[in-house]
Amino acid sequence: MGIYEDRVLPRLVDLACGNRIMDPLRRRACTDLHGRVVEIGFGSGRNIPFYPASVTSVSAIDPAGLGWKMAADRLATATVPIERAGLDGQALPFDDDTFDSALSTWTLCTIPDVAAALRELRRVLIPGGTLHFVEHGLAPDPKVQTWQHRINPVQKAVAGGCHLNRDMPTLVREAGFELREADRFYQPGAPKPWSAMTVAVAVSA
Ligand SMILES: C[S@@+](CC[C@H](N)C(=O)[O-])C[C@H]1O[C@@H](n2cnc3c(N)ncnc32)[C@H](O)[C@@H]1O
Repeated sequence: MGIYEDRVLPRLVDLACGNRIMDPLRRRACTDLHGRVVEIGFGSGRNIPFYPASVTSVSAIDPAGLGWKMAADRLATATVPIERAGLDGQALPFDDDTFDSALSTWTLCTIPDVAAALRELRRVLIPGGTLHFVEHGLAPDPKVQTWQHRINPVQKAVAGGCHLNRDMPTLVREAGFELREADRFYQPGAPKPWSAMTVAVAVSA
């Protein structure tokens, strides 16, 4: 990683992801997590306060070492064991059928090979295990989609590889998950190309 990815980007991510308007969405995504959890794109641990009591352990995956350091205060208050277990969601260092649940919040937009990451999540989840996510992505409206496709190259360049136009529900289904409880909406307070959210639970079929 270069200096921007290593030293600057994790601070910008922490700042952007620290916006309190995201907290209700984090809470919703985390609500039914249970047992052994793998969280991809752990960042600076912004989801820690929202892990429910039904979680027994969290294996955190993220390439950003600085993000893990910035999580220190939240890690100190965590009520479940959390270990930094890997760097890349595209190649998870776990056996098949290791986890009960998986969590991704605003991360599937950034991972270069998102299909590989979803395949890996399915592999390490037990059959019937659940993927819980909140992600921005391709909007339902064609006009907004047009803008998303236009802006996407700039977004990727300035926002650490973040894509605006990934169709999250379709990607998740194509990886062999069955979508349950999917809610798609525009988050108030941000322009539509950036605010088309999906909050969902998907079951490993
Ligand atoms: C927009 S941030 C979201 C962080 C956190 N999930 C949150 O909600 O605050 C995206 C995160 O994905 C991480 N990331 C990028 N590439 C990744 C990869 N290949 N595997 C796992 N995480 C990755 C980044 O380091 C960053 O922490």
